[in-house]
Amino acid sequence: MKITSIITMAPITILASLPRSVLSLAFTVNSRTNTSRINAAKFILRNRPVPVAAIGNRSQLFSTKATTVDDSKTSEENVPSTKPQKTRNRRILSGVQPTGSLHLGNYLGAIRQWVDFQDRETEPFVDDDGVLVKTENYFCVVDLHAITMPHDPKELEESTLSSAALYLAAGIDPTKSKVFVQSHVSAHTELSWLLNCVTPMNWLERMIQFKDKARKAGSTESVGVGLFTYPILMAADILLYQADRVPVGEDQRQHLELARDIVRRFHDLYCKGNAFKKRCKKAGIPTYRTFTEPEAMIVSEGSARVMSLTDGKSKMSKSDKDDNSRINVLDPPKVIRDKIKKCKTDAFKGIEWDNPERPEATNLLDIYAAVQPNRSREDIIEEVKDLNWGEFKQLLADAIVKHLEPIQLKYKEVREDEEYLMGVLRNGASAANEVASATLNAARVAMGFTAYPAER
Ligand code: TRP
Repeated sequence: MKITSIITMAPITILASLPRSVLSLAFTVNSRTNTSRINAAKFILRNRPVPVAAIGNRSQLFSTKATTVDDSKTSEENVPSTKPQKTRNRRILSGVQPTGSLHLGNYLGAIRQWVDFQDRETEPFVDDDGVLVKTENYFCVVDLHAITMPHDPKELEESTLSSAALYLAAGIDPTKSKVFVQSHVSAHTELSWLLNCVTPMNWLERMIQFKDKARKAGSTESVGVGLFTYPILMAADILLYQADRVPVGEDQRQHLELARDIVRRFHDLYCKGNAFKKRCKKAGIPTYRTFTEPEAMIVSEGSARVMSLTDGKSKMSKSDKDDNSRINVLDPPKVIRDKIKKCKTDAFKGIEWDNPERPEATNLLDIYAAVQPNRSREDIIEEVKDLNWGEFKQLLADAIVKHLEPIQLKYKEVREDEEYLMGVLRNGASAANEVASATLNAARVAMGFTAYPAER
């Protein structure tokens, strides 16, 4: 790679540890995309001046050139290097809807993947170009999405807190990942409106999930406009954090594509030419494009895709009226055993994987394997291939109960310590808000909105 392209592509980390937690910034500035965080830093600092001494090297904060940062001074993390080194951040963002209680599908297909990712990839590492890469994980409870279908206000708070607690119980570690509630960061709704006005109707009309959900809901009268614009809110979730990677299930691929399309259209419409540069200059922000194009990290098929217990061909879902169709992560052992006892099987002999005529067998085996992550498929099939359904179900129920037990215990602990949970969500929201409001500000400038009147 040529030196020039390294310089233009290498992101720059700008870290400013300010005394107040709201002003604790950990910024990466990627010269192509992640401009808005500098914008935020500028915006925040302009409006709320803090002593320069507290910021450290101020020129580092606003530099748009490649720079080095002495990590020992600016980061709380233990970075395995004492000499100054180029660093960049990458952001991971994902979320699950807090509708009802979370089930095995949400857990195995999403949350556990986040935990794996967090544990495997959060440690700083040096990439091929010698740049130290740090990962920031943001995991969000998307309560604003939960109201896109009729919801019960009596239950929303509980299901939101319970989801957040389950993230933690499942192994999301607040020292490595930010956990927050979507509606606590108002930039989500605000950017969502801006993007609503940028997105053509017919892009949304193509969304498979909308068509599916709308069809199931019946008449268009009972379908809220929010269900239609749901993918735009999801795009806002992602774009606000300049997330480069978004772990989601296969069913969300289309929504990710939409988010990328929205980014391109937004940049095309608003981030070009001298007029854009002028607006940026006036607002005191660099002229970089507003958003980062996100990439989907599609969670592997197979064990991650959990199907209904009453129909091996449809996804395990919170909206299924029959609670026997799913195992909720918080179901007591007896309920789990009962559900497995009742779940749909077939009339074939033995247990086998991947026979297209036996979707239930495949699904139950997938679940059996997923709750025993240390065993190989061969080992498992060897154990169960000659069993009858009754025998296999017994093993399966035991394995699920055993796997969920520690999560349920941890969950109970977290829920009993409300102060702890609130602390995690407060920190999460504060960190999220810092990043999100910066991006929102950049989007406002790009679109030509008038600035907030300066404080006197
Ligand atoms: N639509 C996602 C789902 O149903 C949930 C979601 C909302 C999400 N916002 C997101 C996932 C942002 C990833 C990133 O699974």
